[in-house]
Parts: sequence; structure tokens; C-alpha cells
Amino acid sequence: MKPTIAAFPATRLRRLRRTPAIRALVQETTLSPADFIWPVFVRDGEGVVEPIASMPGVNRLSIDNVVQAAIEAHALGIPAICLFPYTDPALKTEDCAEAWNPENLSNRATRAIKAAVPDMAVMTDVALDPYNINGHDGFVENGEVVNDRTVEALVKQALSQAQAGADIIGPSDMMDGRIGALRSALEGAGHQNVLLLSYAAKYASAFYGPFRDAVGASGALKGDKKTYQQDPGNSDEAMRLIHRDLSEGADMVMVKPGMPYLDICQRAKQMFGAPTFAYQVSGEYAMLAGAGQRGWVDGDKVMIESLMAFKRAGCDGVLTYFAPAAARILNG
Ligand code: PBG
Repeated sequence: MKPTIAAFPATRLRRLRRTPAIRALVQETTLSPADFIWPVFVRDGEGVVEPIASMPGVNRLSIDNVVQAAIEAHALGIPAICLFPYTDPALKTEDCAEAWNPENLSNRATRAIKAAVPDMAVMTDVALDPYNINGHDGFVENGEVVNDRTVEALVKQALSQAQAGADIIGPSDMMDGRIGALRSALEGAGHQNVLLLSYAAKYASAFYGPFRDAVGASGALKGDKKTYQQDPGNSDEAMRLIHRDLSEGADMVMVKPGMPYLDICQRAKQMFGAPTFAYQVSGEYAMLAGAGQRGWVDGDKVMIESLMAFKRAGCDGVLTYFAPAAARILNG
């Protein structure tokens, strides 16, 4: 006897894709403006909107315009903004003292945003590279980026940011022991409620190129960052870093870059269940926005699809330069 072959497919999975209503009903992952942290570049002056050539659509803004941007982002439902200063080259020194100047660009911008939009969470960056004459995230002694002396400086930098009103402090430097040192210094100074979002799994990536242009660090950087940022081939090491930072007092962790490291995002979320963020970095932005501008891809669609992928991988949110543009689309 011949085996009977069913006259119809046993499972018609296409039934679940037939109409927009049914697709909406069974969609597993959702994306909303509340998932975004928006990184912005701040520079001195007034009324300044200065385009960044390698990041089409992204500008360096003076503080008055950053405040305006924060007001607009808040209206779009974006909960957090992350500040990166473009520091006047004359203020870059060997000792990086501008990093903890209460009146530096980042601290002035934080105070201005918190005064104008108190509900907007302000995240600040802890690392010495915007202030360092050699472009590194830490002090350089005899050609080596030194760890412990750098951590002492990072503590001063973070305390000045907390004092200015930062809600979330983002150490992006990759020094050992900085999360524990920052947490105990913040506790000691009465900043118990300041959150630490650790750049825990941060890779030595070529995708940061446009960012270094944006903050004016490209020319300054001597050598590479491979003695403190991770080797792109490593995944177990990322888990050890995340575990270490959570146990030292990080509230949230980040994987950076984003799209080339979705496996790390997924593994981190599954392993630790902590609030996990991806940074869709400047080079990822440049590729998507640049190809979109030329009409090689549908810019809006690849933007939303790329952001959805982070949520599907398990991230709770994404740092993305697309935040306002994506929020406008998501808000309809
Ligand atoms: C440096 C820092 C970098 C980024 C954020 N903080 C660059 C680097 O490590 O060289 C990159 C962000 C981006 O590319 O969008 N502390």
C-alpha cells in the first residue's frame, strides 16, 4: 500500500500572517519610543547646529539647542538623553582636569536640561577621551593606558556629573574596578539614587569612527584601544565583564556596538536577566542613514527593522541616534 499523502499542509502558519489585524495580534516583540536613549553631541556657543559629515542628519548642538532637542524628545515619548561633549581642543590636557570641572560643557548641559525638562532622564559619559590630549579613555604613562590612576579620575568626573543632576552615569572607559569605585563614591557623597549603566561589554570596534569625528577625538587618538576594549572574537569574556560589573553595583548593562553583537545581547539577557541595553553606534548609524539617503535601501524601514532586532534579541532598550526619527514613525 502506498502511504497516504495529506491533501493539505498539516500546519498552515500563513494563517497567522494573513491580515494586518492578525499580524498585530501575534506580534511577539514591540518597539516604542520608551525604548530609546538618544545620544546627542554638545558644543559651545549659542544657536549652533553643526552638521557632522560622517553622520548624515546628526548635528553638534549648543546648549540652548540641546535643551530644545530635549523638550522635543520628551514630547515624542523618549525617556532619556545621553550627552557627549565636543571639547574645545584648547581644553584637552594631559591631566584631563576639564573632565571634572563643574562648569564643563556636559555639566552645564545637564543642569540646563534638568531645569527645562525635569522628567527627561539625563545620562552622562564617564571616560577621559573627550578631554585627553592623546584621545585615550585613560591616562597614558610610558605608552600604557594605566588603570588605577584613571579610576580615581573617573570617580571625580562621575561625582561632578551627579552633582550637576545626572540621573544615569554611563562609564564607557572599560577600566577594571571602576563600577565598584564609582558606586561607593556615589553612596559616600549622598547620590544613592544615581543609576550606573555600565558599558560592560564594549568591543574594540571600527564602528566608532564617526563618533570620534563627532567629539573631535579622531585626530587626537594615538594607537588603538585594544588593551582595554574587548576583542570582537570573544563572547565568554563579555559574560565575565557583565557579571563583574553587576556584582560591583551596576544597575544596567550595555553591549556595544549593537547590530554586529546581537548574539552577545541575547546571551547577556538570558544569563543575567538584568536591564540590558545595546548601543547602535555611530558607524551603524552612518551605514543605515547613508544608504538610506542615497536611496539604496528604504531608510525608514531599515531603521525600524534594525531597532526591532535589539528588542527581539532581548534588549530592554537601545541607545540610538535615530531616536527622534524612529519615535516620529512609531507615534504615527
Ligand atoms: C569613548 C566612547 C566611544 C563611543 C562612546 N563613548 C568611542 C570609543 O570608545 O572610541 C562610541 C559611540 C559611537 O560610536 O556611537 N569613551
